[in-house]
Amino acid sequence: MDAVIRVRDLRKTYGRTVAVDGVSFDVARGEIFGLIGPNGAGKTTTMECVEGLRAPDGGTIDVLGLDPVRDVRALQERIGVQLQEAQLQKRITVREAVDLWAALYRAPVDGGRLLDQLGLREKQHAWFMTLSGGQKQRLLIALALVNDPEVVFLDELTTGLDPQARRTIWELVRGIRARGKTVFLTTHLMEEAERLCDRVAIIDRGRLVDLGTPADLVRRHCPTATVVIVTEAPGAAAAFAAIPGVTSVAHDGDTHTIRGAAGGLVTEVIRCLAARRIDVRDVRTELPTLEDVFLETTGRAMRD
Ligand SMILES: Nc1ncnc2c1ncn2[C@@H]1O[C@H](COP(=O)(O)OP(=O)(O)OP(=O)(O)O)[C@@H](O)[C@H]1O
Ligand SMILES: [Mg+2]
Repeated sequence: MDAVIRVRDLRKTYGRTVAVDGVSFDVARGEIFGLIGPNGAGKTTTMECVEGLRAPDGGTIDVLGLDPVRDVRALQERIGVQLQEAQLQKRITVREAVDLWAALYRAPVDGGRLLDQLGLREKQHAWFMTLSGGQKQRLLIALALVNDPEVVFLDELTTGLDPQARRTIWELVRGIRARGKTVFLTTHLMEEAERLCDRVAIIDRGRLVDLGTPADLVRRHCPTATVVIVTEAPGAAAAFAAIPGVTSVAHDGDTHTIRGAAGGLVTEVIRCLAARRIDVRDVRTELPTLEDVFLETTGRAMRD
């Protein structure tokens, strides 16, 4: 793996709180890597240690060959950072903010083009306080991109946004990857992690629970799928129970709930329906998602 970030045995405590407790992972060049976990899991702490904004108590971190604590100045030129719940001055305009940020770097990108990319050109003279949540978030992402960084850090990038604004941001993040950059993000939205991230690491109470592609994690932790069939056909329950790979069939009136190995369950159920010429009133599949992986591995549901 061509790793741009290497974290080994990272530890960070605040007084008696152990926020990050021996975390290790690599982020590959050009991927969207997501750190997911519940409130207080240690996501922001981990990310800000990697960015050089907080000093770890133990372990090693390498970002683009630099040590975030020792080489913080050199690193700032090469990374872009969007902080969780960042705010700007109420009456700074979009354009002023971009120009101000650009002035902080040796080789900033063209501000106008950046605003075009993020769909903010029309809003360039608007005050920060008058922007919608999605526009504010787009501006914060623009500011994280102003120095044309190699690695972009986005902490909770769509929290509090409506589904439409969220999708717009996802497209922007994919665009960042398409331009060859690496994206390291945190989220508590499992749908966001599943759709956007090439790989995710699950963190809970400061420890890494598992790491992989969303599909890998689902296969590993939630190997069971469910198909619900509503049918009046006599003998349907017995027919479903005989399907290869089925582990249980429960029925409540005409509603049959079939559980089995996620791999081939849906195909096998369809084959059985066709072979036995069973008429159905309704069919529903419940395939496991990252949300289920999260519940399975942490025993907790996500906040929204
Ligand atoms: N500056 C700080 N001083 C003291 N404790 C802190 C500080 N920052 C974080 N913590 C504590 O460290 C733990 C991890 O916090 P962190 O902000 O890293 O979690 P998070 O996963 O980002 O949570 P969220 O999903 O709410 O953003 C929490 O128990 C938190 O209270
Ligand atoms: Mg956080």
